[in-house]
Amino acid sequence: MDTRIVAADEAGLTEAAGLLLAGNLVAFPTETVYGLGGLASRTESIRSIFTAKGRPITDPLILHLPEPDLEKAVAEGWVAGPLPQSAVALTKNHWPGPLTLILRRGPKAHREMTAGLDTVAIRCPAHPAAQKLLQKVGAPLAAPSANRFGRISPTDAEAVRQELGGRIPLILDGGSCSIGLESTVVSLVSPSPEILRPGAITPDQIAGILGSVPPLRRASTKKEMAQIAPGQLSSHYAPRTPLYLCESPIRFFNPDFFHVLFRKSEGPISKTAILLTTDGNLESAARQLYRALRTADSSGCHAILVEPVPEGLWADAIRDRLARASSGTAAWDGNSWKLLGGNKT
Ligand code: TXA
Ligand code: MG
Repeated sequence: MDTRIVAADEAGLTEAAGLLLAGNLVAFPTETVYGLGGLASRTESIRSIFTAKGRPITDPLILHLPEPDLEKAVAEGWVAGPLPQSAVALTKNHWPGPLTLILRRGPKAHREMTAGLDTVAIRCPAHPAAQKLLQKVGAPLAAPSANRFGRISPTDAEAVRQELGGRIPLILDGGSCSIGLESTVVSLVSPSPEILRPGAITPDQIAGILGSVPPLRRASTKKEMAQIAPGQLSSHYAPRTPLYLCESPIRFFNPDFFHVLFRKSEGPISKTAILLTTDGNLESAARQLYRALRTADSSGCHAILVEPVPEGLWADAIRDRLARASSGTAAWDGNSWKLLGGNKT
């Protein structure tokens, strides 16, 4: 199959909506990462999302709504009522935006989309092209990140082509994603709210609305993980080249390694290095992180070394993704980096 990239202008959006309504898949930009969309009401579209991604059917998809209106999603049968007050308050403040809520599944939300769970993940993206596309389609789209399963999420159209070229007919090009990390996932089906995936909406922002900081739910066993957060496998968001988390800042470079830096150093940096932020701002680091990992992956280097993430807004989310992408840690012995494997669970 030929995969075309078209601009997310009026003509591109009309073509994309037509393809989606006919049951095809289209990759489209959101403010977080690119999504791989298919009609949520159509079983074949949902099945082809799993096939195109190579994603296990046990890993549920997020429902993307055209409007930031949870009551409507209940009325249409996607979410089961009554809605928790927390859901109403969170969506009032953070939709459209990078916040996904886990709620009780309504009868219209297909079991294959929710991987057989009684809950459904739901979000309303803020990117203008995503909104226009959803409005043209006039119905919710099921959309995971537009990468092959377990790999780095794409933050521009070319990265989607690298992941899914030949598997989908169309990629809508809306430029680089402004956030660059996937949405924050908050579960509202447990006795008290829990964060299943840290993201751009921070625990403090959620606490500002709900009154307390929701804990980050971490599964201790694979079985537990499959029950509470099926997609939260520890080995995820990964480049093909082994990635190591450095125990201290990188001061010296080894041309065999690719170095991902968060701190400006005195001298010039190596050709096999990328500085993610020049002013310590983690928002710009997040925006560039996945592209840097793709560059590192195609550099031919034997390993990718990543400096410790400094404190700051989104540090949790960045650390979470890097931990999932990593094969181990790296320790400086005074002369060279020693690669220590096996920190994966
Ligand atoms: O920013 C985002 O959320 C992007 C853009 C495209 O919207 N989408 C995205 O989708 O990251 P995906 O499928 O790559 O990640 C969705 C995450 C997975 O970890 C999945 O397991 C979890 O949400 N999830 C989906 N439904 C769930 C449910 N019912 N209960 C718990 N976790 C769920
Ligand atoms: Mg994903």
